[in-house]
Amino acid sequence: MRPIIIYYSYGGNTKRIAEDIHEKKGYDITEIKPVVPYTSDYQKLVDLEESKMSQEELVEIEPINIDLSNYDTIILGTPVWWYTMTPPIRTFLKKYDLSGKKIVPFATNGGWLGTTFDDIKKYTPNSEVEKPISIKFNENTLVTNTEEINKWTNEIEL
Ligand SMILES: Cc1cc2nc3c(=O)[nH]c(=O)nc-3n(C[C@H](O)[C@H](O)[C@H](O)COP(=O)(O)O)c2cc1C
Repeated sequence: MRPIIIYYSYGGNTKRIAEDIHEKKGYDITEIKPVVPYTSDYQKLVDLEESKMSQEELVEIEPINIDLSNYDTIILGTPVWWYTMTPPIRTFLKKYDLSGKKIVPFATNGGWLGTTFDDIKKYTPNSEVEKPISIKFNENTLVTNTEEINKWTNEIEL
């Protein structure tokens, strides 16, 4: 099995978890980046995304410079935005063929996960979505027990 960590992070929480897994397990890691960066005004972003929440919005993302055929497992990290995955991750799932791969998602959030994991499944009908974990933050402070996260990290390969 060869996993890769693929994530998007606006404010750093998802990046922090992704990099922790990378350091612990040594898996390759790649960040999804929108071509046009989001506003740095947090409240503006929250309001803007609320207005688009029911549209299953897509955004242009930078091409990823990796050959996905080298990996059979994707550890997929997204923040939760308005009860679902972020547009950069939705775009990634739509743009790349992940058929036959295992997807292990983690979603950082403030306590309202919504339909994030079901929506990821919906966008990857030919993949196996397994072992999803919700990781809670209070702003930039990790709330979910690190032991729970470590246990999950160790189980990815089982
Ligand atoms: C536009 C926007 C919408 C959000 N919507 C939710 C939400 O629906 N549920 C929730 O629990 N947290 C929500 N949050 C909080 C983020 O999910 C949380 O802070 C996450 O850890 C941020 O990850 P990041 O630092 O990697 O960007 C939202 C944040 C933003 C910016």
